[in-house]
Order: sequence, then structure tokens, then C-alpha cells
Amino acid sequence: MADVERTLFLIKPDAVERRLVGEIIARFERRGFDLRGLKLVRVREQQAAEHYVEHVGKPFYPELVEFITSGPVVAMVIEGLGAVAAVRSMMGATNPLDSAPGTIRGDYALDLGRNVVHGSDSPESAAREIAIFFTDAELTG
Ligand code: RTP
Ligand code: MG
Repeated sequence: MADVERTLFLIKPDAVERRLVGEIIARFERRGFDLRGLKLVRVREQQAAEHYVEHVGKPFYPELVEFITSGPVVAMVIEGLGAVAAVRSMMGATNPLDSAPGTIRGDYALDLGRNVVHGSDSPESAAREIAIFFTDAELTG
């Protein structure tokens, strides 16, 4: 049986601008996950650099930081059985052209740089990323 996990999930600026927030959150609620943290934030340059530290030096890094800081994002902590992998599978492949229909990216995106959502890729990343966006006092349960 999988463990109950927490994962950091971001609804990126493109999706907020396109008013997809409600539809995206609804998918996780229907699946049975619990929301433990939720806020609308403008990501600061420093937070973006911490969040994307694994990508520093890659050719797409400047674009990545520019995009995630370009408008409000919805930051969420999602909790449930096997949450890290299950949320990633509900997101679909990184490049939306490879994302299966029925996944979030497969339903709402075409562009790799504007792929609508982020989800932590391991429990270790989740713990690190949650601390970038939330204080303990902001998380319930
Ligand atoms: P995310 O972090 O956003 O959940 O996505 P991911 O794990 O599936 O992808 P990751 O490898 O962590 O890449 C982070 C974001 O960088 C953009 N990207 N651009 N131009 C490129 O080759 C390239 N590769 C990645 C994507 O927007 C990806 O979500
Ligand atoms: Mg990633």
C-alpha cells in the first residue's frame, strides 16, 4: 500500500490567466486528494531560483524563471495516497505534445514552455519545494 504523501503543485501563470484554476483544482478533489495549503502568489525571482535550482545553467533556464515570475500562480499542497506519482500522472508528460488526452497538459496545453502546471517529482523534492512556498503555519492537518 502506498504511503500518504504531500506534493507541491503549482498552477502556472498561463493557466491562471486562462481562468483554468477551478477546473484544475476540481480534478484533484474528485480524485480524492486533500488540499493542505492553497494560495495565489506572485513568485519572486529568488523563490523561482530556489524552486528551479536543478535547472540552473540549462539553455531554457532564463525563460523558465521569466515565465514563472510573469504573473500570479496558484500554489497548493496536495495530500493523499501516493500523491507525488499520482499527481504527476494526472499532469501528463512535460511536453504537452506527448501528454495523453485526459491528463491536464494533454487537455489544456500545446507548448512546452507554457505547460500549465508543476508537480514535485519525488517526496524529497516535495519537502524542499513545499518549504519554498509555505510556512508550517499555513498548512493544515
Ligand atoms: P515541472 O517541473 O514544471 O513540473 O515539469 P517537469 O518536472 O515535467 O519538467 P522539468 O524537467 O522539471 O522542467 C521544468 C520546466 O521547464 C520547461 N522545460 N523546457 N525547452 C526545454 O527543453 C525545456 N525542458 C523543460 C518546462 O516548462 C518544464 O515544465
Ligand atoms: Mg520538474
